[in-house]
Amino acid sequence: MSGARGQFSSKTGFVMAAAGSAVGLGNIWGFPTQTASNGGAAFVMVYFILAFLLAYPALMAELIIGRHANANVVSALSGLGRKPLTRFIGAGVGYYGIIVASLILSFYTIVAGWMIAYLGEPVTAVLGAEEAGTWLTTDSVTRNLIFGSGFAFLTMWIIGSGIENGIERWSTRLMPVLIGLLLCLIVYVLTQDGAMEGLKVYLLPDLSRVTDPKLIIDALGQAFFSLSLGVGTMLVYGSYLSKEESLPRLGAIVTFVDCGIAFTAGLLIIPAIYVAQHNGLTIYNDAGELIAGPSLIFQVLPSLFDSMGAAGTFVGFAFFALMSIAALTSSISMLEVPVSMTVEKTKLNRKQSTYLIGLTIFAISTTIIFNFDLLFTFVIDFTTKYSEPLLGVMLCIFAGWVMHRDKLLAEVSAGHPDIENSFFWKIWPTYVRFVCPVLILITFSQSMAG
Ligand code: PHE
Repeated sequence: MSGARGQFSSKTGFVMAAAGSAVGLGNIWGFPTQTASNGGAAFVMVYFILAFLLAYPALMAELIIGRHANANVVSALSGLGRKPLTRFIGAGVGYYGIIVASLILSFYTIVAGWMIAYLGEPVTAVLGAEEAGTWLTTDSVTRNLIFGSGFAFLTMWIIGSGIENGIERWSTRLMPVLIGLLLCLIVYVLTQDGAMEGLKVYLLPDLSRVTDPKLIIDALGQAFFSLSLGVGTMLVYGSYLSKEESLPRLGAIVTFVDCGIAFTAGLLIIPAIYVAQHNGLTIYNDAGELIAGPSLIFQVLPSLFDSMGAAGTFVGFAFFALMSIAALTSSISMLEVPVSMTVEKTKLNRKQSTYLIGLTIFAISTTIIFNFDLLFTFVIDFTTKYSEPLLGVMLCIFAGWVMHRDKLLAEVSAGHPDIENSFFWKIWPTYVRFVCPVLILITFSQSMAG
């Protein structure tokens, strides 16, 4: 193991980093798209219930295991076991988490590359370089390789700089910019014709839809992805947190910020869809299904920006800057999962580990780019639909059943002396043992059956 482990310098530093990890393409791209394709406000309601009922307790499991172990995900999980078999399984779950985190990063890098390419388009418009603009917004292997690798190097550069100087510094700088940009864009879009209709769809739930199994499954998957759960990200960030901080409180803040930004992003995207529709774009087919699906923002939004005239150039630039920033504070947290293990388990230092792992993951991105139709959706489904919920169950089981109960309770109360009177203390330890794994498994098995 080379060198001492880093730490976040303050509570704010941790919150910015963990919220930075949570707030990503999942919030600004995934959540509004899912909301639009699952009937609007009903999805939003179920999402928030599941985020607090299932995702928050699972987040707590990760933070608690991480801070207790003060180590990377493999050492942390294997260290909880008292018998060789549980230690072996712990290490296995840890490696599975690392593989999934790396695979998520491999497709995330490609999507983030698109965001950066679209960020360049308004610049070419201002410069009058129309051909370049068309190249930037047209799918091609070359474009994807250039912008994907640019984004990958940015991620490696920040992670190579360490916890405080890399992760914390950049999350603390970028998160306020992100929130500022988001708010400015909302104010602008809400003044456009058609926006109010979108706002209604977003805010007034059709209660008959809340029991739809597809809606519930989509909401659960989205909540886990959005809070960066299952793959060890939050576990590793928890391991860089001092014992003086209250985990239940910080976990709740991160959950609130994540849900808050997802909700706010919806306030932008859903009305924007209706503004685009008002301007003549076809968004839903006759059956009321979203036509564009996941590529929604690359079709709807640029055409919306175009329809805004000169202001659209600026708004488009701001929007894709927002997306790129959100992606970056998340991608660094994914890369930290394998890097922390390599730094702690081999003789390589942080920079060497970062570039070795970062380049390997980019090699996977390259493979996906060259075999896009075959691999892109496959990797997304394998990681987010199947692996994340299963890993989430495993982490709840490790916190609830494998971790020594006295140690678990000691970790919960460290930094929160009066916790014994709280609701959290009374409910969570039992909840994470029984309710969480069972509910996640039920939802998961339904998604397999469907
Ligand atoms: N939470 C991130 C988002 O919403 C994605 C993510 C998943 C980040 C897993 C880290 C680990 O985009």
